[in-house]
Amino acid sequence: GKGNHRHYMLKEIFEQPAVIGETLRSMWNPASGIIELPPVDIDLAAVSRVTIVACGTSFLSGMVAKYWFERVARIPVDIDIASEFRYRDSPLEKGGLSIFISQSGETIDTLAALRHAKAAGQKTIAIVNVPESTMAREADGVLPTLAGPEIGVASTKAFTCQLVLLACLVIATARARGAIDGAAEARLSNAIAEVPSRAAEVLNGDEGIQALAAQVAEARDVLYIGRNTGYPIALEGALKLKEISYIHAEGYAAGELKHGPIALIDETVPVIVIAPSDDLFEKTFSNMQEVMARGGKVIFLSDEKGCAHIGDAAWGTIALPAVHPFVAPILYAIPVQLLAYHVAVLKGTDVDQPRNLAKSVTVE
Ligand code: M6R
Repeated sequence: GKGNHRHYMLKEIFEQPAVIGETLRSMWNPASGIIELPPVDIDLAAVSRVTIVACGTSFLSGMVAKYWFERVARIPVDIDIASEFRYRDSPLEKGGLSIFISQSGETIDTLAALRHAKAAGQKTIAIVNVPESTMAREADGVLPTLAGPEIGVASTKAFTCQLVLLACLVIATARARGAIDGAAEARLSNAIAEVPSRAAEVLNGDEGIQALAAQVAEARDVLYIGRNTGYPIALEGALKLKEISYIHAEGYAAGELKHGPIALIDETVPVIVIAPSDDLFEKTFSNMQEVMARGGKVIFLSDEKGCAHIGDAAWGTIALPAVHPFVAPILYAIPVQLLAYHVAVLKGTDVDQPRNLAKSVTVE
């Protein structure tokens, strides 16, 4: 049931500290602090290229993983939407690794892409939340997220569990390839170990997020911007908002704004800025100033240090705990879920069963 919550979506958002913790404990030994994946019959040390395929929100966790794999494990990643990948006949190196990400494990395009990759001689890993699903049965290896049943059509806890799992996979791969030393590995593992309690802190800020929803609910268009792993989180924020509130929303890489989308900005357009304190903070900050100079209403998501930087110049700020930049996308996913949720409730839409959508897309 929904427990004390008004909607499954809200219940599932609030379950995140617990289910992220569950997923983490399946791969991380608290005594040693070492990440150990469940056994998969794939030699991570030999992997030289990764292909990631998925749809919707699961695609966006894959996009975060691309940044992680490239930066931390020094492995180039191709990523594509399953409905494109399955028909574009990409040349796949024999023995290469393909990863398929799916909450349901039944999404028809992702399943077809998995079969295509297998037929082309790829080693396949399925990251699924339903362990008895078709993808779990057909892939060479399965890494289960332990989010528990997700009822709301909008994916929330499955997404953050996918991210935690992918973060562990990246660390294990980096170690197997000798791409990071023990000290660097320990820093990343410690950062991941903190995520459940930091996620709980983010949820404690729900009232502040709810207070911003009324004005977003008035908007016709909303933009989300971010850089690096903040970019897929911008895309995810926009997807959540349009899916459940039916407000038109787009996510952009912050540096891409001036190549077109900035023309949309005026006093009626809220712009949600994903800006953790990291090595690109200044760049994102200056993109935000360009938005404010054109009258855009900025909602600024950052940690205390970043929020101090902006003072009260933004229309709204959401302060998150300061964390290692590696895990920031996992935490920044939560406020964009909550914002979409509160806006949808104000709009009076069917939050758990938005129009025209199915929980799992099993026909093409
Ligand atoms: O079950 P899957 O993860 O394969 O589903 C993929 C998408 O259909 C799904 O993430 C969809 O985009 C969600 N409704 C987003 O909230």
